[in-house]
Amino acid sequence: MKKFLSIMALMLALVLTMAAFTACGSTKDGDETTAGTTAAENNAATGTDTDADTGADTEGTTELTTIKMGTNAAFPPYEYKEGDAFVGIDVEIAEAIAKELGATLEIVDMEFDSIITSVNQGEVDFGMAGMTVTDERLLEVDFTYSYATGVQSVIVLDGSDIKSLDDLEGKKIGVQLGTTGDIYASDDYGTENVTKYGKGADAVIALKGGDVDAVIIDNEPAKAFVAENEGLAILDTEYAVEDYAIAVKKGNTELLDDINAALEKLTEDGTIDAIIGKYIKAE
Ligand code: ARG
Repeated sequence: MKKFLSIMALMLALVLTMAAFTACGSTKDGDETTAGTTAAENNAATGTDTDADTGADTEGTTELTTIKMGTNAAFPPYEYKEGDAFVGIDVEIAEAIAKELGATLEIVDMEFDSIITSVNQGEVDFGMAGMTVTDERLLEVDFTYSYATGVQSVIVLDGSDIKSLDDLEGKKIGVQLGTTGDIYASDDYGTENVTKYGKGADAVIALKGGDVDAVIIDNEPAKAFVAENEGLAILDTEYAVEDYAIAVKKGNTELLDDINAALEKLTEDGTIDAIIGKYIKAE
């Protein structure tokens, strides 16, 4: 499926050239999207190359010696904590980007809901948190190329009578505050039916305790939570297919270009695939 999407995105990129390069949108209700360009696709489409062949670090124009990432480290396998250490796909990709920029990465852990504000207030240089590119967020921040795909999934108790998206009608749904799961569920099933938790894990605890009937959250964290807890199941349905990207302050094209150049290089040399493969095993 992923491969199919990539091929479609590549074709789209080729046809639309520059028009297709703007990272954009997510689609709902299993409507698969071809929008959003990955660094590799963009590269293939433009025929440009980074300095990968020289072996030199990208060393962008950004003068930052320390680069601050705002995240919400409660979202395995993208960002979570092992003891005091931050680990996960986003953490490792961010470290590789910082290295390309010749800067040291500093991670600032916060509520997911605060990341965009924090980016815009300059408290952090970028936000990276399995963050979906949406039209609404594009009004507030700029997004880099997409480096991963996410799917909004539904977690229920084993043996639940909820078998499809339609069955969620009138049911109590738990989400993480401010996420696309929150936004879509509130739109589709009514805010009165949606309970918002600070962390996805807390929504899962509420599901186990019978406070909600289902949890809507990104597929990889969903798998991680189901693996850690007995008696849960993920519905075989794709509520929404999304592109994850890094958010920078609107208009900070210098940093945006630097991160994009680093992403291109790290995509081409296989670093990003290797990091994702380390945390997400092929089924
Ligand atoms: N992809 C979803 C969104 O962008 C959820 C991201 C939640 N990430 C996190 N680190 N808690 O809204």
